[in-house]
Amino acid sequence: MRRECLWITGCEGRLGSELMRLFKKKYNYKLVTTDRDVDITNLQEVNRAADIYEVDIVINCASISDREYCEKNRIEAYRVNALGARNLAIASRRKNATIIHMSSDDVFSGIHKRSKNEFDLPTPDTVYGQTKYAGEIFVKEMNPKHLIIRSSWVYGSRKALLPEYQDFYQKVLEYGKNGQSFECPIDVISTPTSTVEIARFIRDVLKADEYGLFHVSCEGACTKREYARKILELNGYDPDLCKASFEKEGGAVTSTLLENLMLKMTGICEMPDWQDAMKEYVEREKGGK
Ligand SMILES: NC(=O)c1ccc[n+]([C@@H]2O[C@H](COP(=O)([O-])OP(=O)(O)OC[C@H]3O[C@@H](n4cnc5c(N)ncnc54)[C@H](OP(=O)(O)O)[C@@H]3O)[C@@H](O)[C@H]2O)c1
Repeated sequence: MRRECLWITGCEGRLGSELMRLFKKKYNYKLVTTDRDVDITNLQEVNRAADIYEVDIVINCASISDREYCEKNRIEAYRVNALGARNLAIASRRKNATIIHMSSDDVFSGIHKRSKNEFDLPTPDTVYGQTKYAGEIFVKEMNPKHLIIRSSWVYGSRKALLPEYQDFYQKVLEYGKNGQSFECPIDVISTPTSTVEIARFIRDVLKADEYGLFHVSCEGACTKREYARKILELNGYDPDLCKASFEKEGGAVTSTLLENLMLKMTGICEMPDWQDAMKEYVEREKGGK
């Protein structure tokens, strides 16, 4: 019997690596993984790959997710995050395949007071958020068999741990290892979400044969400082290395909380509390499993 082909783009990245790890294990897919070797900004290349692989499901984890880099390189950010998503949506539609596309809480501005659900209108105020929203629109327009997943403060290990690839989580670990103090804002609020939990959701949503837009963040909320302190504590470093700072003057709080409303309505799975998820992630990483 023919096995369905699952193609993961951006497989060298945080989420891509985790998905590879999960789907390599025991699922009955023919797994194909690419990163820069198939440039998602090139439609011909993407179509050719989809044809060769005879793809049934594409999971797009390829992205430029560095906010500052996006601000300085607007066209490149649009090319990867929007045009790349469009190309994968076109290629998957040609093959009658499903596309699962990763997006971000950055499609909302950081000034709202309550958590945002899937029915709230995006209002991105960063180039990164604008490019991610543009990618969502393309995916929705170009392939009806789509799943769009928005998450927040995603952490997880990457294959290549070069300094330029270190994310917030890994930088905090470095400070911990070196016993170096550093500052983190107490006026920035969101929810840390482990790639392990997003990968599990993707596994479950594929089984459930669901489509559409889903917010997928761990439950609960914290400040950036609480996030850093928890990373230090769970990894056996001194949480007090992280000092309090403010991102904005005048007491304004930046909050990008997502409500997993579609998850709750469909009952596909439950997301754990962010602290429990981090504990599980740290134990797994320590155990080298
Ligand atoms: N990290 C977060 O906090 C966060 C939060 C919410 C949502 N997300 C979303 O989740 C998804 C995965 O994020 P992540 O943290 O796993 O990202 P990541 O670690 O930055 O990985 C993205 C991968 O895509 C590759 N890539 C970049 N341009 C490409 C191109 N033109 N063609 C093919 N591959 C290309 C990157 O290669 P290089 O490393 O060489 O550039 C990298 O290996 C993204 O859509 C992101 O927007 C992330």
